[in-house]
Amino acid sequence: MVFASTKNPIRLIKNKDLEQMKEIWNQHHQFLTSTGRIHTLKSLNNWFENRHIDFHEYYGYYINSVLLGFIIIRNPKDSLWIKMLAVEIGFQSQGVGRALLNFIITKSEKKQKYTECLIDNIKALNFFMTFGFKIVKFDSEYNEYTLQYE
Ligand SMILES: CC(C)(COP(=O)(O)OP(=O)(O)OC[C@H]1O[C@@H](n2cnc3c(N)ncnc32)[C@H](O)[C@@H]1OP(=O)(O)O)[C@@H](O)C(=O)NCCC(=O)NCCS
Repeated sequence: MVFASTKNPIRLIKNKDLEQMKEIWNQHHQFLTSTGRIHTLKSLNNWFENRHIDFHEYYGYYINSVLLGFIIIRNPKDSLWIKMLAVEIGFQSQGVGRALLNFIITKSEKKQKYTECLIDNIKALNFFMTFGFKIVKFDSEYNEYTLQYE
């Protein structure tokens, strides 16, 4: 990995980082929600605040305070859902996505872990399946698979 020498690059995302998060989100908006929502700083701020009360946690991968990618999980008591994972376009294929996913998997070894992925997001499907996620459900309303980590 290119950034292997950086100590603990993953930490919780803070409000002050939302401008950077918005940029990465909007690069990949068509993959992150079923509606393809594009964010302004204000709408992302609202979204960020509201989701905290619903067991959501937000982690970012940073090099020198620059956000290169993020992972958002929903983490209630009995299961863990990877809701979103996105890496800055210019830094893809350099291990950032792998590091973020590994961080979550390691931190919650005992829980059942799931993610959802739109059926035409072949890149991400391959990525998750490389990690050991398996398709367990198809939702025709949202055109997305549920995958479970085994
Ligand atoms: C999916 C995504 C997060 C992967 O992040 P990344 O930093 O580019 O991936 P990594 O460099 O960590 O790759 C990790 C492994 O996955 C594999 N991989 C990465 N991209 C892949 C692809 N397009 N197809 C197949 N395998 C892939 C690589 O083989 C790599 O393995 P290696 O480390 O042994 O070489 C990134 O492409 C992204 O942001 N996509 C857009 C947003 C999205 O679709 N998110 C998922 C839905 S929420």
